[in-house]
Amino acid sequence: MKTLCSLLSASITALLVSTSAVAAELEVLHWWTSPGEQRALSELKAAVHDQGDEWVDFAIIGGGGENAMNVLKSRIISGNPPTAAQIKGPTIKQWGSLGLLADIDPVAKADQWDSLIPEQLQTDLKVDGKYVAAPINIHRSNWMWVNPEAFHKIDRPVPTTWQQFFDSAPLLRKAGIEPLAIGREDWQLATLFETVLLGTQGVDFYRKALIELDSAALDSDQMIAVFTTLASLRNLLPSTPEQRWDAATVRVIEGKAAIQIAGDWARGEIIAAGKVPGKDILCKAVPDTENDFIYIIDSLVMFRTTDQQQQQAQARLARLLMNPEFQQSFSHYKGSIPIRQIIHSKADSKTVDACAQSARHALETSAKAGSLLPSMVHSMAVNERVKRSFFDVVEHFFKTPRMTPEQASAQLKAAVSASH
Ligand code: GAL
Repeated sequence: MKTLCSLLSASITALLVSTSAVAAELEVLHWWTSPGEQRALSELKAAVHDQGDEWVDFAIIGGGGENAMNVLKSRIISGNPPTAAQIKGPTIKQWGSLGLLADIDPVAKADQWDSLIPEQLQTDLKVDGKYVAAPINIHRSNWMWVNPEAFHKIDRPVPTTWQQFFDSAPLLRKAGIEPLAIGREDWQLATLFETVLLGTQGVDFYRKALIELDSAALDSDQMIAVFTTLASLRNLLPSTPEQRWDAATVRVIEGKAAIQIAGDWARGEIIAAGKVPGKDILCKAVPDTENDFIYIIDSLVMFRTTDQQQQQAQARLARLLMNPEFQQSFSHYKGSIPIRQIIHSKADSKTVDACAQSARHALETSAKAGSLLPSMVHSMAVNERVKRSFFDVVEHFFKTPRMTPEQASAQLKAAVSASH
């Protein structure tokens, strides 16, 4: 005979996986505010609408999501969280362990997410073995977006090493082209740090310094070498950087700047501008990271609520986020790869551009080689406090020309050690 407990849990499961319930308002916090991100988001809004629910937009400007996390904290503290929010990595675990997130495991079980999401990535989405975040896609951050015309103008090949890039920089400037486009937000400087660190020092050092936070690695000859390369990049920062990362992408698209180091959300901007990624604007791995993949998973968590209509709408949203057609169309505009196709890759080479194909290839190679790495900058590797310490030291280094690589390395160890 069934116990009361198992009957109750069966009815909760039925409630959660039922799709034919009363429509509800879904207030969703996110930071997808650039033209490409908005275009991708419109796919999600339309799909939510088609399911009969009403999308209530809670958009907070600021790539990387730091502003969004601050706003979210105050909403949670005041006891009024949104229905769902874009959250990543250890922060998912933190909110989940505090009991704030709805258990979406019944949907995940019914739809067999475990067989669709690679095991290494599942842990980023679960608390105590249960899904609390519904994933959509995977982004790669170690990309260099190149305007080939810029290098054609100065009669130099598209750089594949930092030295080639540094050698081309004075010629680019002479031709009136900024060598490097970058936005004013600190996470973009941190992207230079994260990707240069991987390329110049390799996978083991990346793990030690940015994931394990090993203090011997944080202040080391290798870290000094990272800051030495960054010092050369520091000399190439534009005097008036763009406000936002996507405005920097536009400078590369328009040929005003030669390259941008950015995740493949930049591909979304290239598409939104009507250009062809891989042809008009090239996608090259950051020097010496061809076989590596610094990953970012975009996922939404649902906040725990006692309102049954909201619970059902959350379950509908979770199921939708893993829908294969939705993931395909969202990723097309977002510049990412659908997460569920990582395993069940239905060779879509006819419909995706060269950069998407190259991202998928890098993903497969890196997963086999053990060089699929969570991004520190995009909160996949460490919590927000530790991330902030990295950002502060890196930003200070870029904005203080007299600061030496040795000083930066020592400061990094002190700041990161104090924050965890
Ligand atoms: C990342 C996010 C991406 C993209 C990017 C820039 O943190 O995962 O989806 O939006 O920020 O805003």
